[in-house]
Parts: sequence; structure tokens; C-alpha cells
Amino acid sequence: MTQTREDDVAVRQFYETYGWQRGSSGQYQDAEAFVDLRPVMDGYHRRRDQRVAELLAGAGPLLDLGCGGAPLQVEANGDLRVNLDLAAAALRGARQTLGDAASYLQADICRLPFPAATFGRVLCAHVLYHLAPDRQLLALAEICRVLRPGGVAVVVYIQTFARLQSLARRLRLDSRPVVDLPALPYHPVDHRRLRAGLRDRARIEVRSWSILAPEITRTLVPGGRTGRAMVSGVAAVEDRLPGWSARLARYPMLVVRKNPD
Ligand SMILES: C[S@@+](CC[C@H](N)C(=O)[O-])C[C@H]1O[C@@H](n2cnc3c(N)ncnc32)[C@H](O)[C@@H]1O
Repeated sequence: MTQTREDDVAVRQFYETYGWQRGSSGQYQDAEAFVDLRPVMDGYHRRRDQRVAELLAGAGPLLDLGCGGAPLQVEANGDLRVNLDLAAAALRGARQTLGDAASYLQADICRLPFPAATFGRVLCAHVLYHLAPDRQLLALAEICRVLRPGGVAVVVYIQTFARLQSLARRLRLDSRPVVDLPALPYHPVDHRRLRAGLRDRARIEVRSWSILAPEITRTLVPGGRTGRAMVSGVAAVEDRLPGWSARLARYPMLVVRKNPD
């Protein structure tokens, strides 16, 4: 199955006209829809982002694919940082955060305009599952191509069969976002299928990016001290048992280490 032109248009349209526009809270509408923005979650989100930043703390130019309007703060260590996205609104937002210290490029993740082995570090968070499965494989192959031997890529993905998600369905917790959204394509596949395509070029480890999903925390995590204790307990499990907790994670991440030459 190849991605239809309508899918491409829908993803771009969603982010240009909705996702990277500010909502009533002053935050991006993407965050209002897909993130539990209550203060009780702040520490959990900070620790999650820190884990990714630590994985990408090494040397070499940094590429953020589908960077969005609020790109992750990763220390560039004086190296080039390139932010790439299909949506111009995303790049405008990214520039407001990172300024002239980074470069910005409007392009498709499946056709990266860089020579092989350009980057030491690549981040691609919450992008692939909006693409049709064959384009996800193409994008992963591109990530591996532009990565230097020994370089690291972090690919944040989604799994629909996460155990907490099944529990949420059984408990009939509402899995829809809190607002009515314009159409946004989703094509999640079993991440083992994605990993298989890179097996001969890279070592891939699966860790938890986030066990918790907003539809669960909004319903089950109270504000205040009790809620903070609950989510910091989950974060501690993710810190100490990253591989094991990936099985529970609504959002796993693939840590791709390209084989040295
Ligand atoms: C869910 S947002 C994620 C943003 C950011 N990475 C984050 O984690 O907050 C997905 C982003 O990927 C971009 N995107 C989707 N398909 C793309 C493609 N084929 N090539 C480049 N960017 C794409 C969208 O425009 C959007 O900004």
C-alpha cells in the first residue's frame, strides 16, 4: 500500500492550519489535543525529554526530522543542527525557539536532501506513523543512510497494542482527544517490522519514550502530590528498566546505532 496524495496533503494541512497554530491556552493546538498539559505532568515530561537528550548527547551534526513547532532541546555542542519539516508553520515555530543557531529546511523525510553519512545524531519523534507503511520503511532507510557509521538515531513511535492501552479500552476510558480535530492520517505498524528492515546496517534497541498516554493520565492521574507521586513512580520504572517498560509503552522509541564501517 502506498501513501495516497490525499494523505500527504492531509498531514501537511493539519500541521499548517491547525497543529502549529496557537489555541485558547496559548499553547500549540497539537499540544492541547495530544498532551496532558496539567502541571502535575511537567516533571514526567521533563524526565522523558531528558532521556532522549542524553541518548543524543554525542558528537556530530544533529538532524531533527519532523521537528515541529516546539523542537526538543538537545545540546548541539557547537555542531550544526538542522531542523526539517514538511510544514512551514512548524519551521517558523522551531526558529522562534532555536533562533539562528540552527538551520531550517522544508522537505520530505522520505527524500532527504543530504549526502550519505552527514549526521552523527538524528531525532525523528512522532512522524513515521503518519506515513503509509512502505513510506515508513523508506524514511527509516533514509535515516540510516544519512547517519554516520557509529551514529545514533532516536525514532519515537506509537504502539496500539500497548497493555495499558488495552486496559484503558476495557475500562472504557475515552481514547479520543479532548477536542474535535481535523483529519490526520495514522498508520501504526508493529515496530518489529520496521526494525527488520535495518537489521543488517544497525543495532536497534527498543526503550520506553512514554508509558503514559494523555487519555489515561487525564482520567486516572489526579492533580497535586498524589498525581506527582504516581507519575514519578512510572518515570522511575522507565529510567531503571527501559527495555522492559517498552512493552508497556504507548510510545516506544527505537534507538538505532549504525554499525561502524
Ligand atoms: C506530531 S508532530 C511531531 C513534532 C515533533 N517531532 C515533536 O515530537 O514534538 C509531526 C511533525 O512531522 C511533520 N511531518 C509529517 N510528515 C512529514 C514528512 N513526510 N516529512 C517531513 N515532515 C513531516 C509534520 O509536519 C509535523 O510537524
